[in-house]
Amino acid sequence: METTQPIIRFERISKSFGPLVVLKDVDLSIYPGRTTVIIGPSGCGKSVLLKHMVGLIRPDSGKVFFHDNQVNALSERKLTPVRRRIGFLFQGGALFDSMTVEQNICFPLIEHDIGTQQSRQDRCREVLALVGLDGMQRRFPEELSGGQKKRVALARAMAMDPELLLYDEPTTGLDPVRSDLINELILKLQDVLHRTAIVVTHDMNSARKVGDRILMLDGGRFILDTTPECLDKVDDEVVQRFIEGKASREELDELRTGRLSRSADASGGR
Ligand SMILES: Nc1ncnc2c1ncn2[C@@H]1O[C@H](COP(=O)(O)OP(=O)(O)OP(=O)(O)O)[C@@H](O)[C@H]1O
Ligand SMILES: [Mg+2]
Repeated sequence: METTQPIIRFERISKSFGPLVVLKDVDLSIYPGRTTVIIGPSGCGKSVLLKHMVGLIRPDSGKVFFHDNQVNALSERKLTPVRRRIGFLFQGGALFDSMTVEQNICFPLIEHDIGTQQSRQDRCREVLALVGLDGMQRRFPEELSGGQKKRVALARAMAMDPELLLYDEPTTGLDPVRSDLINELILKLQDVLHRTAIVVTHDMNSARKVGDRILMLDGGRFILDTTPECLDKVDDEVVQRFIEGKASREELDELRTGRLSRSADASGGR
């Protein structure tokens, strides 16, 4: 039983887009200083879940809390101080193409009126060094590889030194060595600075390495809440097939007969 207060709390959150039910009465508590990994099939609602935490998506019903702030009831103006305390690495990176790397990283600092130009540049150098890209300040996103863009986006998410970091697929598109460095960075932020993190990933190596807790979302609900140590002992065929990356017999049959429709990728655009 936890004695500390959760940093994020979902109370019976439901969300649909038209006829598509994405989240069904989801309850969730995230405690400070931990790294929670969320896994689940493509299109199951992982990114939608993260976006609820910063008020980018509002639920149809239920409540989302960040500490005592009921995020889903706050106006855009009142969301600003909440967003200042939460770093978000978006799935696609979401860098501004017309801005340099430095301008991208300093953008949230300027928006939240933090520091002087000099201190912002210093902070930019610091976070770029953390992701191994100091010296790239003047480049534009189009001059970077996919993996470099991801690391710049990660540096931007860390720029304000947020107490909660949301990472939406931080290692996707990175080579194995770079992925491992990102894993180490996530671990370091937690071990040294005791930051709280939520990591959405398909990368089971990363999940096992960085997670204190592993949740699996499927069919609008959490169907698993365990630790990396206990993951292999979970007695559930859906979970085991997911973590081993194996399709079911029915899915293979559907693929052979050209009927594969369900869950191959329900997410549409990323
Ligand atoms: N703004 C939106 N409007 C309409 N439908 C949406 C919107 N955002 C997400 N969806 C739909 O909600 C479902 C869940 O999307 P989400 O992006 O959360 O999936 P995901 O679990 O993150 O998938 P992936 O692993 O591919 O990133 C998908 O079917 C998606 O098409
Ligand atoms: Mg996603």
